[in-house]
Amino acid sequence: ERQAHLQSILATVPDAMIVIDDKGCIASFSTAAEKLFGYSAHEAIGQNVSMLMPSPDREAHDGYLDSYIQTGRRRIIGYGRVVVGLRKNGTTFPMELSVGEAVASGKRTFTGFVRDLTSRHRIEAELRQSQ
Ligand code: HEM
Repeated sequence: ERQAHLQSILATVPDAMIVIDDKGCIASFSTAAEKLFGYSAHEAIGQNVSMLMPSPDREAHDGYLDSYIQTGRRRIIGYGRVVVGLRKNGTTFPMELSVGEAVASGKRTFTGFVRDLTSRHRIEAELRQSQ
């Protein structure tokens, strides 16, 4: 029942939603995330979230998580940030990332919401050109 409820949320949230553990390991991957990044939930779950970003963040992301866990200093949680995402097919795109933190039965998890900014950036570029 609870699982069915979670599944229906994952299938309907319009933004891509990704849940990771404190090591960056993907625990859930929404339907919108599958469409945006080109990986099925089956392929993504169990992998490191760094697979969804290009260098240099890709090599650094484990360190970002470690330093947040050690210092508590937030750089994205509560602020959001525009970063670059990487699709399965190797193409990159601008995305707005918001991250929330939760602790459930002693385990820390992070939930990321990803909005694809590709069309917004394209429209802004077209507006600039038409001025
Ligand atoms: C921190 C990049 C996806 C969770 C960061 C930082 C960057 C980054 C640049 C901050 C480093 C700093 O200034 O110290 C990216 C990129 C992503 C991505 C390019 C593209 C896919 C995600 C996702 C989640 C996530 C999907 C969660 C599900 C975190 C957490 C932190 C962090 C928990 C540390 C806390 C904080 O800085 O507030 N990431 N990230 N990231 N990221 Fe990611």
